[in-house]
Amino acid sequence: MEKNKNLTLKFFDSKWFRVPTWAEDTEAIYRKWYLKRYGYNTEQNLKKFLKDKHYILDAGCGLGRDSKFFGELNPKATIIAVDQSPHAIKAAKKVVKGKVLKLDITKMKLKERFDFISCDQVIHHTPNPNKTLIRLFKHLNKGGVINFSVCRKKNKYRDFTDDVLMKYARKMSTDELWKFSHTITLFGKALHDLKIKKITFEGKKYDSIQRFVHNNLFRCWYNPDVDFTLSVSSNYDWFSGNPRFNLKEVKSEILKGLPKYKLLRTYQDDATISVSLKKL
Ligand SMILES: C[S@@+](CC[C@H](N)C(=O)[O-])C[C@H]1O[C@@H](n2cnc3c(N)ncnc32)[C@H](O)[C@@H]1O
Repeated sequence: MEKNKNLTLKFFDSKWFRVPTWAEDTEAIYRKWYLKRYGYNTEQNLKKFLKDKHYILDAGCGLGRDSKFFGELNPKATIIAVDQSPHAIKAAKKVVKGKVLKLDITKMKLKERFDFISCDQVIHHTPNPNKTLIRLFKHLNKGGVINFSVCRKKNKYRDFTDDVLMKYARKMSTDELWKFSHTITLFGKALHDLKIKKITFEGKKYDSIQRFVHNNLFRCWYNPDVDFTLSVSSNYDWFSGNPRFNLKEVKSEILKGLPKYKLLRTYQDDATISVSLKKL
């Protein structure tokens, strides 16, 4: 089997080739999600936060959705967006008002130091999230803030099926994996179309059987509000070894050995743990 790192590059690059408009098609949903997870809640609050952030780095920028957002809210900032996927870079260059660079954030040595780094949904795709965070931290100015998120441990049933499926998924070619993701998305859609609502399981409430199965048993994302292909692409991310963390592990493993910092905020939802740190 290829190493995690090579698979991450190969599969993300093929994903961005298949869904080059993913960022603009999901922009409204993702902006709202970003604002909520990092505690800004409104664009106005994020704008206020960005006002004195003169140098901004989007590490693992994908198609550039977040850099575009930051640039709109602080047009005077110098923005640098980096990703290792050539197809991501090609798409990001069309929307980001700033430098867009193809590089590996685990080896990155930029001369710039940043007031704000956003590294959303990226570091768990790197071989050693803790080392990646330490490297990013070196690029922060004192008093600067970093926002990052990792994939969250779900429950023992869903984590078990993720591990089993991932073992097979990571042996597939990019075409085979796309076909597989297509099938599980059809499964999610079939569940959604049953229109079974109001499910309670282990004290949690779900408003659709698709969400209930997806969150607890088997990854089968389906969002009726976006194009079907975009849901397929959400079910396609199997290739990095998908390490997942709980909050305790984030604190003990991912923040381990960081120079002085203040933990500003943690936020957990079904899929992710989002963290904001200030460098002291
Ligand atoms: C789930 S996507 C998130 C993209 C973007 N941050 C967003 O929220 O839309 C993860 C991105 O991280 C990039 N990535 C993963 N490992 C990387 C590395 N070592 N160096 C640079 N980019 C990396 C992938 O190519 C991919 O575009």
